[in-house]
Amino acid sequence: MVKITFHGHSCFEIDADGHHLVIDPFFRNNPLCKVKPEDVKADYVLISHGHGDHWGDTPLIASRNKATVIANFELSQYASKQGLKSHPLHIGGSAKFPFGWVKLTIAHHGSTLESSHEHGGNPTGILVNIGGKTIYHAGDTGLFLDMQLIGEMNPIDLALLPIGDNFTMGPVDAAKAVDFLKPKKVVPMHYNTFDIIKQDPQQFVDLLRGKPVECIVMNSGDTIEL
Ligand code: NI
Ligand code: MN
Repeated sequence: MVKITFHGHSCFEIDADGHHLVIDPFFRNNPLCKVKPEDVKADYVLISHGHGDHWGDTPLIASRNKATVIANFELSQYASKQGLKSHPLHIGGSAKFPFGWVKLTIAHHGSTLESSHEHGGNPTGILVNIGGKTIYHAGDTGLFLDMQLIGEMNPIDLALLPIGDNFTMGPVDAAKAVDFLKPKKVVPMHYNTFDIIKQDPQQFVDLLRGKPVECIVMNSGDTIEL
């Protein structure tokens, strides 16, 4: 059984078979998040890109838990320089881990680390295989046609897609992404954290009505099982 817990924005915990993963660990400065990063248990920290709302509390969580940071080469080097354990990947590359595997995909966005102005490499989406399920976390991205290829080559049990518009896909583009990816389930993310990405998730739900996908709107703190 795979447990997915949402903490608002793009921050998810994934637990399966005693493995604890956290993706885009944005806790302290996340107005939607009810959990302190000090209370997060993680063996692996997966990061889609270098922006502060995704890199988030990586140093605190990875160092406290002696967790391995999994991210693109530039971000993993940045993590290593801070004394964190890391595993570098890059777009199109996958690697096996004790819980399954991770593969990075393209994402159309930026990735500069705001605090240090270092270049965080290219932004990515993340495919995670854990507990026999495949989860696609799109990171921050606009809509792109290669999502068809991602969906064709990886039967996706759960897609986590940004719908906040302004910086990423909005609900209409994210609904098109569902057509391309063909996931069994989809959870909208990256909205209502800040005024600039204010969005009614019901619009996304309505756009998916009649399509062969289950849309689950998670509130911060909610857990679902796959
Ligand atoms: Ni971003
Ligand atoms: Mn973002």
